[in-house]
Amino acid sequence: MCGIFGYVSSKKTSPRRVLAGLKRLEYRGYDSWGIATISNEKISVKKRVGKIGAASVGDLPEGYIAFGHTRWATHGGVTDINAHPHLDCKNEVAVIHNGIFENYESVKKDLIKNGHKFVSETDTEAISHTIEDQIKKTNFPEAVRKTFNKMEGLNAVIAICATDRSLIAARNGSPLIVGFGDGENFLASDAAALLPHTKKVYFLEDDEMAILTDKSVKVVDTKSGRLKKVKVQKITWNLADGEKGKFKHFMLKEIHEQPRVIADIIGSGTGPAQNLSKLIKSSKGSYLIGCGTASYAALAGTYLFSKIAKFHINSAIGSEFGYHLDFLNRKSLVIAVSQSGETMDILESVKKAKNKEAKIAALVNVLGSSLYRMSDYKTLIGAGPEKAVASTKALVGMLSHLILTAFALDGRVREGQITLNLALESTKNILTKKSIGHIKNLANKLKNKKHIYVIGRGLSYPASLEAALKIKEISYIHAEGLAAGELKHGPLALVEKGTPAIAYLPNDETYGANLAGAMEMKARGGYIIGVSFKPHEVFDYFIPVTDAREATIIPNIITAQLLAYYLTIEKGFDPDKPRNLAKSVTVK
Ligand code: F6R
Repeated sequence: MCGIFGYVSSKKTSPRRVLAGLKRLEYRGYDSWGIATISNEKISVKKRVGKIGAASVGDLPEGYIAFGHTRWATHGGVTDINAHPHLDCKNEVAVIHNGIFENYESVKKDLIKNGHKFVSETDTEAISHTIEDQIKKTNFPEAVRKTFNKMEGLNAVIAICATDRSLIAARNGSPLIVGFGDGENFLASDAAALLPHTKKVYFLEDDEMAILTDKSVKVVDTKSGRLKKVKVQKITWNLADGEKGKFKHFMLKEIHEQPRVIADIIGSGTGPAQNLSKLIKSSKGSYLIGCGTASYAALAGTYLFSKIAKFHINSAIGSEFGYHLDFLNRKSLVIAVSQSGETMDILESVKKAKNKEAKIAALVNVLGSSLYRMSDYKTLIGAGPEKAVASTKALVGMLSHLILTAFALDGRVREGQITLNLALESTKNILTKKSIGHIKNLANKLKNKKHIYVIGRGLSYPASLEAALKIKEISYIHAEGLAAGELKHGPLALVEKGTPAIAYLPNDETYGANLAGAMEMKARGGYIIGVSFKPHEVFDYFIPVTDAREATIIPNIITAQLLAYYLTIEKGFDPDKPRNLAKSVTVK
């Protein structure tokens, strides 16, 4: 979950470069940050609690090598001392780390017995002290490799040594990408951070260790120490894709990019959907899996496949999928849906499914991500880099692909493109100044509410879950998405005078029954926000959404993204970096 950026160069500029790199990665973790550099064979470290925002590293000496980290705390509270990098006793080794060093307690106990002094509460510090011990017996890269092999759990470790001109990085589970420059080389936890410097990259595999100097990059197997072949890949994203541009926040920019995402998916042809649909047809007992927002895409997929193609598919949440394994065999297909391709619960599920010999298809946004590489079949979502913690355009990309695939399953893929085109037009209508102003006005009305309910049926049920997730995760207003039919089974008890309820009422078979739900809430004092193709007297506030048939779920969700965004602005919070969360959940 942490952001990592490392730099080794023949020129002396490293700390500033690392700071700039970390700022591009802050969405991965932002409770504290730290940078270390080597100058005159001495390691200097600066680390602080809080967001990296306006930080400067002018007080750090310039060096040829530096690295840094933005933290999302796992072991040890959020303090300056617990921020990374962590040093050994002699200040000769510095380490940053992503993941959980599961057996660190016993390692730490032994180190303390042998005289090592710990200053932080982190598991990471045990890595620096272990390297310190190993370095007495061997060279620096070997010391890192031996230390890495002692670690249990899923980890990425990056280390520097005061007397060595290399940056060492080993991974098992957590993502690390090497960037190739001219007289300089880079390392990052996310390819988007490398875009200002290079598009030539290598995605480290599990159990690989990279040794970067200003002139070379070597990759070795962490288990055997044997040199491996490095196949350089090219990133297709552009630099501007990862910048805020004229927008105040990444989230707003990404919301506005959604028409482009839909148009690109329509324009990229029917091949990916046809291929995925053939694969689904040739399998027996398939699952769509995802976490958080991606799990709602997976759930929407089950409704889309059933409604459009009369085809059954299961869906499961990544963290729960382990309990469905009994149903998997070599005929099964697991379609893993993920923006980052690094979500640990998804990767773990995929590994387990592979052990059952199931086929794996990925619907993933990040080329070269762990999920991308683990999968037998891959569809790239094509949303471009998503930096706001709250997922928006990636979800719209996922839904667009699933809609096309559902139509392809029914042999009507062309109709799928036409339907998506309706969603594109409807989305453009929502993103007009007038419509945004209308949603902003609603945010102003709702900003002091403690609870917001969202109801829907059919495809609007996953839309309701997603709308509630967006609202709660960035505005911190409690929000709950409900299948409208469940109201009477409990939640109606919560409705009182003025309770806001968003009701999704698209032009489909759910309209009448969902309207009844809205009326039940209204009768108990609820403030009804109707999201629909036509007004109704039961609505206290009406958000018009032009009909896009089965793809209306897309513009419907976009209204909630905007509402969540403007609620957050009204309340004075940062929509890009919600508290306690980070992009790319690489721990279980
Ligand atoms: C919510 C959100 C998360 C992610 C989830 C899965 O706005 O962004 O719920 O959807 O962590 O992430 P990916 O798609 O990267 O696997």
